Amino acid sequence: MNYYIVTGTSSGIGEAIAKKLIHRKEKVFCISRQINESLKALATKNHSGLWYYQTDLTQTAKLPVIFKEIFSFIDENEVANVVLINNAGTLEPLGKSGSLNTGLIENHFKTNVIAPAILINEFIRLSERLNAKKTIVNISSGAASTPYAGWSNYCAAKSALDMLTRTIGEEQKSKENPVRIFSVAPGIVDTKMQETIRNTNEEQFPMREKFEKLFTENRLSKPDDVADKIISLLFSDFPLTGDVADLRNL
Ligand SMILES: NC(=O)c1ccc[n+]([C@@H]2O[C@H](COP(=O)([O-])OP(=O)(O)OC[C@H]3O[C@@H](n4cnc5c(N)ncnc54)[C@H](OP(=O)(O)O)[C@@H]3O)[C@@H](O)[C@H]2O)c1
Repeated sequence: MNYYIVTGTSSGIGEAIAKKLIHRKEKVFCISRQINESLKALATKNHSGLWYYQTDLTQTAKLPVIFKEIFSFIDENEVANVVLINNAGTLEPLGKSGSLNTGLIENHFKTNVIAPAILINEFIRLSERLNAKKTIVNISSGAASTPYAGWSNYCAAKSALDMLTRTIGEEQKSKENPVRIFSVAPGIVDTKMQETIRNTNEEQFPMREKFEKLFTENRLSKPDDVADKIISLLFSDFPLTGDVADLRNL
């Protein structure tokens, strides 16, 4: 039996991943602030196991409690794979440093770095006893390695997520029953996040026009295609643990 915990399933890449997993009749634990009713309906129709945690990842104290419950649902005699996909992410607050809201900066790092760090820690601790293949995928971004004016928090947060991946990968290499952890940048994908980018102004994000052009030229990847590729990586030997990869090069 395979169990998947996916964050950010109310839209975009996370929704597409959860949809594919439901079609495969996998057991899926979804986390986002808004409940995705269409995923729930699909799971009911497919007689597939779906648990939905309507949760704000910025409320970090709740996360270990949720993971304790999720792991209590895992049948240790039947489990073959257990997977965490840290997909939820935010671009807000967009704009140049000096113009940003303090609370939004705090929530940004909670969502994009602190919550994934806590979930990774809980996942490794709670899965230690399981005789199963264990995998963590962190959804990163090209912004982790390229500075984009107007995205200082986002670039820093994704860079931190990649370094968490690389460091925890080092830790896991010497373990007997290790967790495989890797980061993957999905490319430019047609989701709400891209809508947010197109709705900013040049002052907030000087490269806005480039993203507008990619959209009008129909050059964005489709969430369904990206989801297929991410799921296929779970069953492939590459990326290796600790790797930071780009889906466009795999
Ligand atoms: N689209 C791209 O071109 C692109 C490029 C590079 C990297 N990425 C990365 O891909 C991932 C998925 O993004 P997407 O493009 O699919 O964007 P999206 O459609 O905006 O999805 C973001 C998801 O994250 C969830 N989320 C945001 N803040 C949250 C919070 N505080 N608590 C719980 N969930 C939260 C949202 O759910 P709720 O609002 O319901 O909470 C939503 O389900 C992100 O990590 C993003 O950085 C995307």
